[in-house]
Amino acid sequence: MENNIRSLRSYLMQRLLISLYLLWIISTVVGYFATINYANQPYDLVLLQRANEVAAELKLGTGHEQLDVVPALPDGSDLGMPDRVLYTVTDSEGRKLAGNGNTLRPLSYRRERKGPLFSNGEREGQKTRMVSLTFPSRNGVLQLHVSETTQQRQALIRGILANIVIPELLLTLIALAVVWYGLKEGLRPLEELRHEVANRRRDDLSQLDGGKAPAEVRPLIDAVNNLLERLKQVMAAQQRFVADAAHQLRTPFAGLKTQSELALRTDAPERKQHALEHIHTSTQHGIRLVNQLLALARNEPGGQSTDSFTVLDLNQLAQECTVEWVQMALEKNIDLGYEGTSAAQSVQGDPNSLIEMLNNLIDNAVRYTPVDGHITVGVKAAAQGTELSVEDNGPGIEPQHRERVFERFYRILGTGQSGSGLGLSIVAEVAKRHGAKLKLDVGRDGIGTRISILFPVRPSSIIN
Ligand SMILES: Nc1ncnc2c1ncn2[C@@H]1O[C@H](COP(=O)(O)OP(=O)(O)OP(=O)(O)O)[C@@H](O)[C@H]1O
Ligand SMILES: [Mg+2]
Repeated sequence: MENNIRSLRSYLMQRLLISLYLLWIISTVVGYFATINYANQPYDLVLLQRANEVAAELKLGTGHEQLDVVPALPDGSDLGMPDRVLYTVTDSEGRKLAGNGNTLRPLSYRRERKGPLFSNGEREGQKTRMVSLTFPSRNGVLQLHVSETTQQRQALIRGILANIVIPELLLTLIALAVVWYGLKEGLRPLEELRHEVANRRRDDLSQLDGGKAPAEVRPLIDAVNNLLERLKQVMAAQQRFVADAAHQLRTPFAGLKTQSELALRTDAPERKQHALEHIHTSTQHGIRLVNQLLALARNEPGGQSTDSFTVLDLNQLAQECTVEWVQMALEKNIDLGYEGTSAAQSVQGDPNSLIEMLNNLIDNAVRYTPVDGHITVGVKAAAQGTELSVEDNGPGIEPQHRERVFERFYRILGTGQSGSGLGLSIVAEVAKRHGAKLKLDVGRDGIGTRISILFPVRPSSIIN
């Protein structure tokens, strides 16, 4: 894994190294040609002057040439003047007429050419620079080629280049060192932060101190801190939930223990029977609570995904669920009705979760609505989807409780009913998992409770 992680420092250094290296090469090449150009200019002038002196000595261009005169030219033996100078006089065809060496005619040298021509060449392994001049003569033209070795020029070029290249190289190295050090120092707070996180206790969710970190990573640290804060809240909620669940489970178990002890101690059959009935009720409470806890776990975010979702007919599902409750409603002489649609109402969802949701809603309605009440379960097509509602004309839920009844284990005291406060939180989780909008209102004519769930039309809007 370590190999895949790219170090910011080495990445930047690599980039910088390549670009500085390229820059150095380019400036060296450009500097080299510029230097040659500037170094040649004064030497070329001297060479031309010398060629003119030779021409004067040989009287070229006067019509009275004296080609047998041998002008005195440096032969390279003088330490102050290490370059050797040679000259040749040729006719227009390039045939040598006089001279102290064989200086080849430059290829591009044309007949009747006006003005001097400078050219580069090589003789006996040494670089040479030559100037060629044309003079009129009786038999046409004469050409004078004066060539010199380039040791002095090259020494000058080397000197200038050394003064460009070496400081540039030093500058490059200094720049690299400064950047390397800057990066090391700049990233140190991050390294410290990494160290701090790595050495944390498993349960330490306190905020990271990004005070010294570079501004660029502040948003990341803030985001991590935000996440830590939320994680802390979630963990606290989980802890509270476990404590509440254990507390709730203790009641039916305690009842079981007391009643079974009572049954064991007594010989009277009717007392045994009575105790057994209590045991039965406690067991039912226990089972219901455990089932509710399981339902909550199933519908929690991060629990089951939408894999179990199918396209189902909400109208039919709600109707079937309602029928199951008719008997219970009758026992309290409650009129439990169903208002559906004639057409099927397709909804994407998990049928088991939706049944759990409906059961909890109808259970509440039947439980909290007094004798002779009315309950209506309904499914209808709405503008933004399909609406499922359970409405009763019971005592209603006071506005101050409306937000909180969807919290886990939240109950309104004084209803005289037993329960653990999980029903509506299951409803809320199921709605959330289906991307549905949950609403708690008063019932018809401002009496009772109406809870509605609006399922979205498009399955794509389902939230996990
Ligand atoms: N239809 C309703 N009419 C009046 N009050 C209601 C209705 N439904 C819920 N409530 C109130 O909201 C509270 C929370 O309901 P919820 O279903 O979450 O828990 P519960 O019914 O008390 O227990 P459980 O459903 O876990 O057995 C209830 O205690 C009750 O006071
Ligand atoms: Mg309930």
